[in-house]
Amino acid sequence: MGDADKVFQSYGRSCNNPVFYEDFYNAFMNKSADIRAMFVNTNMDSQRGLLRGGIMWLVMHARGMSDSKIRALGESHSRKNMNINPAHYSLWMDALMETLSKHDPLFDAELERIWRVTLRPAIEMIQSMYDQ
Ligand code: HEM
Repeated sequence: MGDADKVFQSYGRSCNNPVFYEDFYNAFMNKSADIRAMFVNTNMDSQRGLLRGGIMWLVMHARGMSDSKIRALGESHSRKNMNINPAHYSLWMDALMETLSKHDPLFDAELERIWRVTLRPAIEMIQSMYDQ
């Protein structure tokens, strides 16, 4: 099985449990006060649903889907829109790995490495659009 398929299957074992997205945002917001501040006015119920789709876009991009959804995230998260500091994506990724380790019973260090390298191109595309 290719890396993108391993990631797809790992997400499939995790994504149907709504607690996954609560655990993710708890882990992510615990990383920094700056991140907590960005979500003070956010309806977290809908945000959790949006994240479910957003992670799926990253996974599908790795499996060959076009860049359009990733470019839309790059646009919405750019300086002129939501102004998401590109440095925050490593914390986002760390929070995702912590959450997967709780929810995917097959998660281990090798699968974590695979997740990180597989999502990297899409994340780099989003980060590179910050100043556009
Ligand atoms: C909104 C996904 C990284 C902060 C959103 C939305 C999605 C999403 C799907 C809904 C709006 C839209 O479609 O653009 C993602 C994905 C990420 C990521 C897949 C990783 C690649 C981050 C990071 C931060 C962040 C690193 C902050 C440090 C926000 C905020 C909103 C948002 C503040 C708007 C919340 C609101 O409506 O009040 N994100 N995001 N995101 N994201 Fe992200």
